[in-house]
Amino acid sequence: MQRLYRKRIVLGVGGGIAAYKSAELVRRLRDHGAEVRVVMTQGGREFITPLTLQALSGHPVHLDLLDPAAEAAMGHIELARWADLVLIAPATADLMARLAQGVANDLLTTVVLATNAPVALAPAMNQAMWADPATQANREQLLSRGIRLFGPGSGSQACGDIGMGRMLEAEELARAVADCFETGMLTGKHLLITAGPTQENIDPVRYITNHSSGKMGFALAEAAAEAGARVTLVTGPVFLPTPDRVQRIDVVSARDMLAACEAAMPCDILIAAAAVADYRPEVVAPHKLKKDPSTGDGLLLQMVRNPDILATLAGRTDRPFCVGFAAETENLLEYAARKLRDKNLDLIVANDVANPSIGFNSEDNAVSVIDRQQHETRFGQASKGHIARALVAFIAERYKES
Ligand code: PMT
Repeated sequence: MQRLYRKRIVLGVGGGIAAYKSAELVRRLRDHGAEVRVVMTQGGREFITPLTLQALSGHPVHLDLLDPAAEAAMGHIELARWADLVLIAPATADLMARLAQGVANDLLTTVVLATNAPVALAPAMNQAMWADPATQANREQLLSRGIRLFGPGSGSQACGDIGMGRMLEAEELARAVADCFETGMLTGKHLLITAGPTQENIDPVRYITNHSSGKMGFALAEAAAEAGARVTLVTGPVFLPTPDRVQRIDVVSARDMLAACEAAMPCDILIAAAAVADYRPEVVAPHKLKKDPSTGDGLLLQMVRNPDILATLAGRTDRPFCVGFAAETENLLEYAARKLRDKNLDLIVANDVANPSIGFNSEDNAVSVIDRQQHETRFGQASKGHIARALVAFIAERYKES
């Protein structure tokens, strides 16, 4: 199993002798399925060449904050948003001190400040530098801000000393990174998630659908599985691989989706991320419709309402904790709050699909979650994987309180 399948890791390489291990680390992360982008400090470049890390990661290495060419391609904000996790290995005493102070005087420290993703450090330094009260105070400060520390380990050091300060080995670090995504928050729970569009047939060759790619729903399924849940993912037609440990059920129409969801019940939590067609043609023509001269240039299709899957499941006696999505192009929060009430939901995720960078088929999303008390919690723009993990953690908390 590739525990880091499709995870986006920004690897920061600081200026210490352990930087030579970063080459192996890139390979291990990629072996576990991760996509890796490398950011090097000036010091890191003294120990290992960017070319080595470019060849191993398969992508140009990011070096300078004030590089117009780099900023035009993937600048510090894009890198910060792209990351599912930022790992700094090796993290020198100087880097730890700068991060503890919130200094942003190079590309790597700026990415750390700009990211919403978890940040982890693999300290590597001489044992006396590690033991120094200044470094220990920085360590405490970083931990108190939620930054994770992997290691350091103990043993013989490049300088000849023996003690704490060795960077962990590449495989240990890759496993520690994978563990960050496994929260166990939903262990023992069954989550039912809908994703993708539905297709409503007009005739044997035509149908009505929408632009949903399934990316948001699939990211939620992956995050829920990582949180330890048993996940049933009911999806309309999409071109996405099934996340590990997820039971996938493929459907076509809204009525198929409802039937599959009802068959998958009971569940503890329902997350409805699918973009379900509200209407379908009343009659599906048995043969391909031909141009009919008697109707002139027009074609009239009589449409009928589809069942509302979310409202139907929220109305059952074995009702799960219900989370809906609201894709809107105007009056986002008002319309979302109305759907929360009308469909009897616990939470609704408001999704502004007028903005193409965070809507249908985009890589990123940015959402607001509204609860029954009309409280709004905002999740800023980040990859759909990152948003999904944040939403699953939020939903798990609210579910436990309910
Ligand atoms: O798939 P992607 O390309 O990644 O895009 C993600 C997304 C934009 C599709 C997703 O984030 C999203 O917002 N999904 C809901 C889209 C939508 O059509 O919402 P709605 O406002 O029509 O429906 C409100 C809620 O009721 C949704 O949870 C929907 O799944 C559910 N619904 C709607 C109609 C219906 N007949 N049955 C339902 O269950």
